[in-house]
Amino acid sequence: MPAGTRRSWQVWRDRRGRLSWLRLVALAFLLFPAVKALADAPEIMHGARPINDLIHRAGFWALVFLGVTLAITPLRRVARYGPLIDVRRMLGVGAFVCIAAHLTLFFADQSYSLAKAATEITHRVYLIIGGIAWLGLAILALTSTDAMVRRLGGTRWRRLHQIVYGIALLALIHYFQQTKADVTVPIFVSGLFGWLIAYRIVAWWQGRAELSTLGLLALSAGVALLTFLGEAVGIGLAFHVSPWRVLSTAFDFDIGVRPGWLVLAAGLCVVVLDAIRSRSVGPARRASAVAAE
Ligand code: HEM
Repeated sequence: MPAGTRRSWQVWRDRRGRLSWLRLVALAFLLFPAVKALADAPEIMHGARPINDLIHRAGFWALVFLGVTLAITPLRRVARYGPLIDVRRMLGVGAFVCIAAHLTLFFADQSYSLAKAATEITHRVYLIIGGIAWLGLAILALTSTDAMVRRLGGTRWRRLHQIVYGIALLALIHYFQQTKADVTVPIFVSGLFGWLIAYRIVAWWQGRAELSTLGLLALSAGVALLTFLGEAVGIGLAFHVSPWRVLSTAFDFDIGVRPGWLVLAAGLCVVVLDAIRSRSVGPARRASAVAAE
């Protein structure tokens, strides 16, 4: 094979055919759930519902990969590191592969009966919502090839791929609805998605791609506050208690760290990264990290 070229399945090589550490790291991250499930196989197989355990794992990691895909744009700007864009597609396709496994496992859980699976999906709201999100992700995965980008044209492709925000929202609703008791993780995950969407809204609103360090700090504090309020109202409605009572537990670390604090911590990590990078990288490099979008 001539130097500088790569076969499409060689995802660890960049467009010029060179071995890419960034792609290797992304690939290892994408393979982690499968490796972890293999390592946990004895525990899974001896569990009460092995297939359901795997359904949960595949669904959860699909959401993680979807979130990381959405995090690439703010991260590459904050880190002033343009090459990060090179792994966004493989992460997005990784999310779809996980969700294809999720649905296949669900099908297996319905004894491979198409009729049973279809009945189950059409009779449960959280599955209908999951199904719509699934179809959306399938459309994004199918249109993620170079050939499809050329065929659709940049503008139409970008407009189509904005459905990812709706998909993320539906996936979060599906996640919440299927959660039986403890909603701490779904609230935390929703707070992180909230941060990623709010970042884009603020960047669009201020008419420029970058937020200042202070802007990122205000954004993180605002989204963390909304996470606290969302948890208080959500738990208040679900368990008929006063949201103020739920809010008053925010500082009671004996009962655990509330998701709002974790969302704030994640946001502050981005703020610190921005503060460091904005002092260590010159304006030229900053501009190139944004311009390549
Ligand atoms: C037709 C499409 C889908 C079906 C049939 C489906 C089915 C399921 C089922 C049966 C569960 C477990 C519920 C339980 O144990 O009671 C589940 C959980 C879950 N699903 Fe889906 N799902 C679909 C689409 C999606 C999509 C598109 C996403 C995200 C991108 C997703 C993310 C999740 C997550 C995060 C969980 C919970 C995992 C956890 O508890 O850690 N699902 N889904």
